[in-house]
Amino acid sequence: MIWKSVVGKLWATILLLVACVLFILTILLMQFFRNYILDEMTGQLMSTASKIAVMLKHNEDTRTGLDVAWELISEETKVVVVTDDNRVYYSPNQRGEKLSPSYFRNDPDFSEVFSEGETVQKRIRLPEEGDAGRGGEEVLVIGKPLNEGNGKKGAVFVYQSLAVMKETSRATTRLIFLAAVIAFIMTTVFAFFLSTRITSPLRKMRVAAFEVARGKFDTKVPKLTNDEIGELATAFNQMRKKLKINMHALNQEKEQLAGILKSMADGVITFSKDGTILLTNPPAESFLQLWYYEQGGDDLQQLPPALVDLFAKAVETEQEQVGEVSFQGRYWTVIVSPLYTEGNIRGAVAVLRDMTREKKLDKLRNDFVANVSHELRTPIAMLQGYSEALIDDVVTTEEERKEFIKVINEESERMGRLVNELLDLARMQSDQFQLKIEQVPIKPFCNRVIKKFAGLAREKNISLESRIESGDESFPFDPDRMEQVLTNLIDNALRHTPEGGRVEIRQGIRDDKLWLEVSDNGSGIPEEDLPFVFERFYKADKARTRGRSGTGLGLAIVKNIVDAHRGTIEVKSKIGQGTTFTVMIPRK
Ligand SMILES: Nc1ncnc2c1ncn2[C@@H]1O[C@H](COP(=O)(O)OP(=O)(O)OP(=O)(O)O)[C@@H](O)[C@H]1O
Ligand SMILES: [Mg+2]
Repeated sequence: MIWKSVVGKLWATILLLVACVLFILTILLMQFFRNYILDEMTGQLMSTASKIAVMLKHNEDTRTGLDVAWELISEETKVVVVTDDNRVYYSPNQRGEKLSPSYFRNDPDFSEVFSEGETVQKRIRLPEEGDAGRGGEEVLVIGKPLNEGNGKKGAVFVYQSLAVMKETSRATTRLIFLAAVIAFIMTTVFAFFLSTRITSPLRKMRVAAFEVARGKFDTKVPKLTNDEIGELATAFNQMRKKLKINMHALNQEKEQLAGILKSMADGVITFSKDGTILLTNPPAESFLQLWYYEQGGDDLQQLPPALVDLFAKAVETEQEQVGEVSFQGRYWTVIVSPLYTEGNIRGAVAVLRDMTREKKLDKLRNDFVANVSHELRTPIAMLQGYSEALIDDVVTTEEERKEFIKVINEESERMGRLVNELLDLARMQSDQFQLKIEQVPIKPFCNRVIKKFAGLAREKNISLESRIESGDESFPFDPDRMEQVLTNLIDNALRHTPEGGRVEIRQGIRDDKLWLEVSDNGSGIPEEDLPFVFERFYKADKARTRGRSGTGLGLAIVKNIVDAHRGTIEVKSKIGQGTTFTVMIPRK
């Protein structure tokens, strides 16, 4: 609506103002003109009356004087002269009924002209009858005594129709109205033009403001004028510039924060006060994904209950809360801190640290200590028992004594081996571990190691076969360490193969890699144990961990040596059918 715009308001105000002024001016002007015309007329009639009076005074003969006088008067001016001796003369421009001297004598005002010798001016209405068409006409009459103050009672009455004046004033009014209308129209155009001009920069600014609100901070408002509106445009531009800088800084801060959050190793989840998740980073995202997976089913709980409790507590106590969450075999330490806005709690932020590795390492260390003590306890107990028996002379025969001493010797050897293996492992896992790589002729190397076990195999009635594909080729590796690998593997195979079984060692070079395989048709390893056989102290057959069985370190050492050679080791096994270990060592 135009009335709602500044243009409309300004325009209407100016128009209203001008209309008011014009109206008052017109009224005053008309009043003024009417009075002016009346005054003019009065003055004219007065002077006519005076002239006739003077003329009659200076002419002895009244007739002659009047003749001259009739020449002087205008067509509209009518004259009635009453001489001292009561004769009456009418000006020749009168027709029909004339005003009689008796009319003047009877009139209370005009009678004073005769009685008091005073000049009288009065507006009267001509008698209705007579002079058809002109009856009831309003006239202005001036009555003037012929000889002032000398007692003679003559008088001259001059009158003129007011129609002339009315006509004049009507014409004037029309003119004034015309002028007013023109002024009004001009004002309208001018006011419209003015208000449009004043508001056009404002409208431009409005458009720019909307643009800025939409985020286009480059929209500039042109400074068209040097007045307050121009200053407003400058202020607006300054504000826009400041806003742009601030928004830029804000965005940068936001991006920086987002970057930090994204690259953080810890998960971050921000909650609103009612527990809705507002923000997460990738680690937190994977935490939630894992939780949803853990939940399964349809009855999805948004967050782990432990986390919900921590959040509720943090909001309630307004204090940082620390706790632990664990599912899917993983552990997280959670710190929930309340978030404030102007002193009021608006939510909380949870920082999740994945502690799975630490937990695992902790468990490993504890297990290791437990395993080592456990492994040492058995031989120590044996040593103690048998040596005490010897000291207390419990044994009587020399044969028994020898048997006891043999056990003591075996157990101390076992302990020694365990300690050596542990030391070996520790050395391999330390940073200083170095392989002594050299070119080793493969065939003699393998045969030498296999030969070591020939006696043991024959003893256990196991056929020990070897298929060495290489001729007189050499391959770079650490011969002492690789001997350890082969020894451990063959030892295991022989140990877990019953009498009459078969152990085979195969060797070859595949894809420029040294390939070693030790297979047996022994007891095999349960499928669920396969992933763990390379761990320290791992023994698949728990029931046979006592006595002659090993320490569970052999395969861990093998794995470490193969890893040091940047090779791989694989195990395939079927319970009751046999086991195959395959080692691949790349040429360096
Ligand atoms: N060839 C095999 N057949 C069946 N089970 C095996 C075989 N090789 C290893 N295992 C299983 O894997 C476990 C781990 O073997 P590893 O060589 O690490 O320990 P160990 O032989 O018991 O002791 P160590 O070698 O230190 O004397 C063994 O206890 C055994 O249960
Ligand atoms: Mg072993």
